[in-house]
This record gives sequence, C-alpha cells and structure tokens, in this order.
Amino acid sequence: MARRILAAGNWKMNKTPSETTALINEMKPVVASDDVDVLLCVPAIDIPAAVEAAKGSNIQIGAENLYYEEKGAYTGEIAPDMLVDAGVTHVIIGHSERRGYFGETDEQVNKKIKKALEHGLVPVMCCGESLEQREQGVTMDWIRMQVKIGFQDLTADEAKKVIVAYEPIWAIGTGKTATSDQAEEVCKGIRDLLRELYGDDVAETTRVLYGGSVNPGNAAELFAKPDIDGGLVGGASLKTSFGEIVHYNK
Ligand code: 13P
Repeated sequence: MARRILAAGNWKMNKTPSETTALINEMKPVVASDDVDVLLCVPAIDIPAAVEAAKGSNIQIGAENLYYEEKGAYTGEIAPDMLVDAGVTHVIIGHSERRGYFGETDEQVNKKIKKALEHGLVPVMCCGESLEQREQGVTMDWIRMQVKIGFQDLTADEAKKVIVAYEPIWAIGTGKTATSDQAEEVCKGIRDLLRELYGDDVAETTRVLYGGSVNPGNAAELFAKPDIDGGLVGGASLKTSFGEIVHYNK
C-alpha cells in the first residue's frame, strides 16, 4: 500500500488560543482533502481551542512536546494522558529547537517516543544535522545515530507507527531549503536504516517527512521524491496558503 502524504504544520510558539480558533476556522475549507493527511501541531495551551475548531474537518491536532512520566512533581511539563484527554493524536518529539535550546538528548527522545506510543499517540520524531556537520561530511552518520537511539528497543509494530521528520537545522526558518535531491538522499538513508533495523515492512510503511523552509513553491518537487512522504512545515503553516502545500499536486 502506498504511503499517504502528510502535510504537517508546526506552529511553534506563535499563536494565542483565540488566534488559534480564528486561524483554524480560516484554514478548514482550504486544507480539505481526501488524498493528503493534514496535521497541525500547536502549543499546549492552544490544544483545546484547536481541537474544538477542527471538529468535523480533516485537520488532526498534535502537540509540540510531551513528558515521559505519567504524572507527578514535574512542574511545567505535560503528561501523555493530558494530551490524549484533550483530543491530540500526534506529538512532535525531539525538534531541533528543543534539542538546541532546552538540551533534549537522544535518550530523552527515545523515552518520549515510547511513552507516546504507550498512550496511542503518534510520535513525529525530528532529526537533522547542523551546517557544520554537513560540511564535515557526517550528515548521514549523525542522522543514523539520532534515529537509532530514538528507536532503541521499539518493536517492529511500534516502529511503523512513528513518523520521522528529517529537518536539517540550517534549513529551518532560514528560507534556505535543502534541494529536493539533498532531502531525498537523507530521507532514503533513514528508510535504509529502518530496513537494516526492522526489515522491508517497517521501511516501506514508516512515513518520512522533510522539514525546513517548505513552502507552496517547493512542496510539489519535494513531495514527488520517492522517499519523502510529506512535510513538517513551520512558518508556512501559519497562513491559509498552507492549503497550497496540502494541494501541492493540483
Ligand atoms: P520552517 O518551515 O519555518 O523552516 O520550520 C521548519 C520546522 O522547524 C518545522 O518543524
């Protein structure tokens, strides 16, 4: 079965709850699609507004982070049950901004992925190299390490449920997209690693997204690549023109 394309937005820290309601209401008609899955990942405090506004539409709502404990004295953190109860289906894990600004490690990413899966949430695990690493020629070594540790101890059935997002750090928010060939090369490398670790079924089922300055002008070329199953979109998911990314093939 062919993998479905996923157009996923990562709103990062940009919208208030009332702005969320307004934007999702504007977004609903323009992202309606039978062919492409649509996901918007929003700040925790915006989740109730987002879930309510998205009701009856094809927009799924995701979180941008979770904590890997069930409950307890973890001031400021969000437990998986809280996300599930609020109507969230997906959760971004290990975004480079969380790794870079908040010190998240591959081991924490692994714990978060397991915890998300335990609660029926789909983890969207991010990985990506810095410009320095690309120039040093260690891109694929780095990505393989991030994915290998992120997936540590997952069964094949669990691994298939994870969505991997390849986001080169130098392409995030910079307007500098990886070329479709550069993006394809790494996304294929991730699929090859999944094949090594789990075999063909997991490699062919798992969705691998590209993220980093995806916009209505470059989505079609990126999503046409055989190993790119959609995009994780930052800035361009905060505007109704996100609909053009959803309808990239029209
Ligand atoms: P931009 O699309 O703004 O470059 O952000 C990409 C990203 O970090 C999505 O998670």
